[in-house]
Amino acid sequence: MSEATALLQQYLAQLAARSVTHVPLTARALSHLNQAATPPTAAATTASATATPSRKSDRLAALAAEAGKSPACRALGTLRETLVFSSGSAEAELMFIGEAPGAEEELKREPFVGPAGQLLAKIIQAAGFKRSDVYISNVCKFRPIIEDGSPQAKRNRPPTPVELAAGLPFITEEIRIIQPRVIVALGALVSHSLGIDGNIADLRGKFHEFQGIPVMVTHNPSHLLHCGQDSAGVKEKRLVWEDLLQVLKHLGRPISAKQRAYFTNAAS
Ligand code: URA
Repeated sequence: MSEATALLQQYLAQLAARSVTHVPLTARALSHLNQAATPPTAAATTASATATPSRKSDRLAALAAEAGKSPACRALGTLRETLVFSSGSAEAELMFIGEAPGAEEELKREPFVGPAGQLLAKIIQAAGFKRSDVYISNVCKFRPIIEDGSPQAKRNRPPTPVELAAGLPFITEEIRIIQPRVIVALGALVSHSLGIDGNIADLRGKFHEFQGIPVMVTHNPSHLLHCGQDSAGVKEKRLVWEDLLQVLKHLGRPISAKQRAYFTNAAS
């Protein structure tokens, strides 16, 4: 499949995720698409359709195998080689979605295991879940390359819109398989990928929707790491925590007075 065809497929997948069902195509584009190899999610979608709900983990494994070979991601040439797919429970009712793996995630082949991931783990625990109870993934399945001539080492960068678009068919299929009761989108890059547009200050704190599933948009934990420990930093943490309290309420989970007070004066 040519790079142009891969990009065209990504674009169409992005439109489909935004519930666009019809687009005008030139005869040439149509012919390219017809000749293209299996589209990114077709094999796993077939597995999804034929598997029973109890085989969600098998369907995810098939999807991960497909993501590892994704022609759309490979064609970009801006992403590294190691697949970082997802972690957690295939039966989760709560799903966290981040942007892209960084150095530590690439090393361990697991999303959110670096400093931002450790913060996310604390948030998950404070909310009364075990990390293994929830499902954690990223839109972009490979660590973005930094090409400035010097070694990349531990340096990371946010994924570009086109890199996010290349991962979109996979995260969309993960959502379809898991069918979580709530998605937490960690940052505006993630919400934009899911077709929820706007700036983070306006988006956070309320429920949006992706394919009928409520989506709470909140800050990525890596943003919190940059906010520091002063009162402004605590305020940002409180915003994220308030978003999580809304998620807990939506899930019908008990919320203790102690939990309600985190990151307020009452808690200190
Ligand atoms: N680590 C991840 O895996 N994803 C993010 O978005 C940030 C850190």
